[in-house]
Amino acid sequence: MITELSNNLNQSLCVGNRRIEKRLVLAPMSFIGNIAFRELVSSFGGYGLLFTEMCRAKSVPHENRYVSPYFRWRDEELSCLVCQIFGSDPEIMATAARRIEKEGFFGVDINFGCTAPSICRQNSGAALLENPALAAQIVADVRKAVSIPIFAKFRTGWKDDPRIAIDLAKRFEDAGADALTFHPRVAPDRRARPPRWEYIGMIKQAVSVPVFGNGNVFDHDDCRNMLQQTGCDGVAIGRMAVARPWIFAELADGFKPGPDIYLDSAVNMTTLLARHYDPTRAVRRFRKFALYFSANFRFGHTLYIKLLNSQDMEEAKDILHSFFEDAPDLVSRPNMNFFR
Ligand SMILES: Cc1cc2nc3c(=O)[nH]c(=O)nc-3n(C[C@H](O)[C@H](O)[C@H](O)COP(=O)(O)O)c2cc1C
Repeated sequence: MITELSNNLNQSLCVGNRRIEKRLVLAPMSFIGNIAFRELVSSFGGYGLLFTEMCRAKSVPHENRYVSPYFRWRDEELSCLVCQIFGSDPEIMATAARRIEKEGFFGVDINFGCTAPSICRQNSGAALLENPALAAQIVADVRKAVSIPIFAKFRTGWKDDPRIAIDLAKRFEDAGADALTFHPRVAPDRRARPPRWEYIGMIKQAVSVPVFGNGNVFDHDDCRNMLQQTGCDGVAIGRMAVARPWIFAELADGFKPGPDIYLDSAVNMTTLLARHYDPTRAVRRFRKFALYFSANFRFGHTLYIKLLNSQDMEEAKDILHSFFEDAPDLVSRPNMNFFR
């Protein structure tokens, strides 16, 4: 069914010198936004862009795409794939962006939001929110290095004060960013409290480049409300795309999922991971996927615990088949115990 929302989501949008055909994008997610998961999402469509998991800028220039678990892609996805990088040295970030442009990615995204201590200790990710001059310098140096679209993804800051985020947004735009993805949570709060969507509206008002709103969009109404309440140009979806990889197709294309889609998608995920990764890496990535996928079910914890303990993709497949034999109860909104 084509709704007003899907009409909005199917309006094309200029980002820098390029154009996207749809306004929903897959948010970057470390360990989850891998080549296998993106192939699963691609099988349904409905998105305008896919973002990779974050890649260490220092490593990007030397990575072998056929060996690296992170800097890895299928040629078919390149035209709508944005590579996210993290780092703190503007020159290193610029060098990474040059490789990303040379490989033919749609764009490069700079991570100003990751709160993992291992990343912040290196003065990268959300740590840069406390150093707006350096953050802007990174964008400016990447701008000088490449002509593909540059995205900056950021959070509110380390204090719950939207003025910090507004200042950052303006600095990013002035430094040459072509689009912003804004997740309105303070950095110490990983994802526990609700995001403050009203701040997205403030960012949208402050800049003229496109703004992608992000945070707790789980269904049709959330997506419509975020667009209406904030005036943002597009929406980035993270965890719900793991729970329901067809969410983009559902919201933008009116795709109607059938009853078998949960089992089929999870089984497909095991197959794709086994195709793209060695058994150890496949299992580790499937465990991350399983956490958010299990949020679909009333008794999802029983599924999750079993999948967490599975030793390989064949065992995971068997667990999935036996869980679905009893037609598990679905929940319409995700079980938030899993959405950490
Ligand atoms: C498992 C996981 C990994 C994430 N990794 C990244 C990342 O590498 N880079 C980034 O900018 N954001 C990362 N995020 C944040 C998401 O992009 C997004 O901002 C957040 O999940 C809120 O959106 P959602 O409510 O649609 O999930 C991650 C989130 C999750 C759940």
